[in-house]
Amino acid sequence: MQKRLVWDLPVRLFHWILAICLVTQWFTAEVIEDAMDFHFYLGYFILGLIIFRLIWGFIGTKYAKFSSFIAGPKAMFAYIKALMNKQDTSTIGHNPVGGLMLPLVLLLVGIQATTGLFTSDDVVHSGPYYGTVSDSLQSIMQWLHHQTFSFLWIFIAVHILVICWYKFALKHDLIRPMLHGKKMVTEQQAIANSQLLKAIIVMIVVAVFVYWLVEINPPIPEMDYYY
Ligand code: HEM
Ligand code: HEM
Repeated sequence: MQKRLVWDLPVRLFHWILAICLVTQWFTAEVIEDAMDFHFYLGYFILGLIIFRLIWGFIGTKYAKFSSFIAGPKAMFAYIKALMNKQDTSTIGHNPVGGLMLPLVLLLVGIQATTGLFTSDDVVHSGPYYGTVSDSLQSIMQWLHHQTFSFLWIFIAVHILVICWYKFALKHDLIRPMLHGKKMVTEQQAIANSQLLKAIIVMIVVAVFVYWLVEINPPIPEMDYYY
């Protein structure tokens, strides 16, 4: 056993950049005045992050893949039972319950970013697809955009509490591996590298797609003139 790479660089960057961006999004919408333009651009960037991680979950390195951590209810209950009985529950990638984090976050942040495209502050700033849907759909999107963040706050609070519980009660530090990517594993268990070239190609494709989605594809809004 030796300290070897388990979390690739794209997964680690995704995690910490997403955490910073979500908090910043809240500030730009709720605290800082006149930051809506920035809120929009960061929202597009987050949309790209989410799409990237979704794709990386299929073609990334071993422990980044959904197939390595999505478990059925049986495995989850067995894990919780082992945890309660204070048995060794350490896993190399996400544990069977922690594996729920990524799909949940992709869903919640995906809803947040997508509904943002159809949302308006009812003053000057409207998402690029605001004018393309009916009034009732606009209200639903706006409502979802406002409500989903509350669920994200709950996720973030529970997530941080659980990570701290692992660290202080179970003496199992998950934080440092999420920073440097390494855990005590055998050579067979470790990943060889972060597959950065593949990650960069996926990033470029995603960036082009998001640019097309928010800049090229949306219809030019009709102007209302008031005299
Ligand atoms: C806005 C705040 C945060 C969000 C949305 C978030 C979300 C996530 C997600 C989606 C994952 C899975 C990563 C993946 O497979 O790509 C994850 C893992 C993880 N997060 Fe966070 N996170 C946040 C803040 C934090 C903070 C502040 C810490 C440190 C205290 C932290 C520590 C970790 C650790 C250690 C893991 C890996 C858990 C494991 O080993 O299974 N996160 N987080
Ligand atoms: C994941 C990315 C995003 C996050 C986390 C986020 C978060 C938020 C939050 C917390 C609010 C305040 C809601 C409230 O007052 O209850 C808000 C409002 C808003 N957001 Fe976002 N947002 C994101 C993406 C977007 C995008 C992509 C757009 C547009 C393209 C957008 C447009 C707006 C608008 C127009 C408001 C309304 C402000 C108002 O009601 O005055 N957001 N957002």
